[in-house]
Amino acid sequence: MGSYTVAVIGGDGIGPEVVAEALKVVAAAGVKLDTTDYELGASRYVRSGDVLPDSVLDELRSVDAVLLGAIGPAIGSTAVPPGVLERGLLLKMRFELDLYVNLRPFNATPGSIAAGADFVVVRENTEGPYAGEGGQLRRGTPFEVATQGSVNTRHGVERCIRYAFELAERRERRSVTLVHKTNVLTFAGDLWQRAFDSVASEHPSVTTAYNHVDAACIYFATDASRYDVVVTDNLFGDILTDLAGAVSGGIGLAASANLNPARTGPSLFEPVHGAAHDIAGTGTANPLAAIRSAAMMLDHLGETETAARITDAVLAIQDEMALSDTTWTTASVGDAVAGRV
Ligand code: IPM
Ligand code: MN
Repeated sequence: MGSYTVAVIGGDGIGPEVVAEALKVVAAAGVKLDTTDYELGASRYVRSGDVLPDSVLDELRSVDAVLLGAIGPAIGSTAVPPGVLERGLLLKMRFELDLYVNLRPFNATPGSIAAGADFVVVRENTEGPYAGEGGQLRRGTPFEVATQGSVNTRHGVERCIRYAFELAERRERRSVTLVHKTNVLTFAGDLWQRAFDSVASEHPSVTTAYNHVDAACIYFATDASRYDVVVTDNLFGDILTDLAGAVSGGIGLAASANLNPARTGPSLFEPVHGAAHDIAGTGTANPLAAIRSAAMMLDHLGETETAARITDAVLAIQDEMALSDTTWTTASVGDAVAGRV
């Protein structure tokens, strides 16, 4: 078992609290991490005016992995204009580190709308409407124009779809569903569908399906168990994974891995939820998403057996939390998972 260099970005609000529990669990599982803390996010921006200096980005390029809690100002705060941290920090890391797959697993808890469902969303993470294409004309006049195009490259789409099929081959049900809106987004949808069909032909043991994104929203809410691996574009994936979190037991359970599967640099692991300033410091944030994200990090680093043990413990505790009316705290949840690994 090696030791790994990990950049830890606790971030804002509940971020540092949930990351502390994730690190507690990794240590309890016996994996040695050589961590370096980075102060990035709303607090740094407000203090110093910078978001992600190039020198920091260069340091991040050389670590084995990045573990992030949550980034963002309190809702209603005007200290950070919208987009500054999203584009300047989170998306910048996704683009600069070529984190082209955003992997988001869901195991629905007993009693949740999607109870029993076990699926994973493979969200394209560097293109689509997130790419930054577009602009404004005549801003502030009655004749203003804003465009924000969706960028879809064959290379970018195909590598994401390929990841989804390779993942499905390692899962029991071996099924991949493409989610898009090919009936309306005929240019992008056509590229996605043809890339999907071509990769599918290389994976004859994987069964395939297609859903329009609006229909997928209905199925997520009514029949999520039909899904195994879902592959979709960046914006559809953003929206669908919040829905998936909500129906699976809460966004506090939703983990994610921003992966560079080509391993040309580190990957980044973060819970899907935000900074939740309203509950920061109260000890009530659920750290399970952060802990599961750390397990995804260990899996990516090659500590597959330890990663599986932590994931199993997270799933056991999330079910226990769903079924009992014990009052849990951030730390007691972390302790409970740590006690099982
Ligand atoms: C997510 C978040 C981000 C996204 C924001 C904060 C830029 O909502 O990771 O899902 O839209 O991708
Ligand atoms: Mn989101």
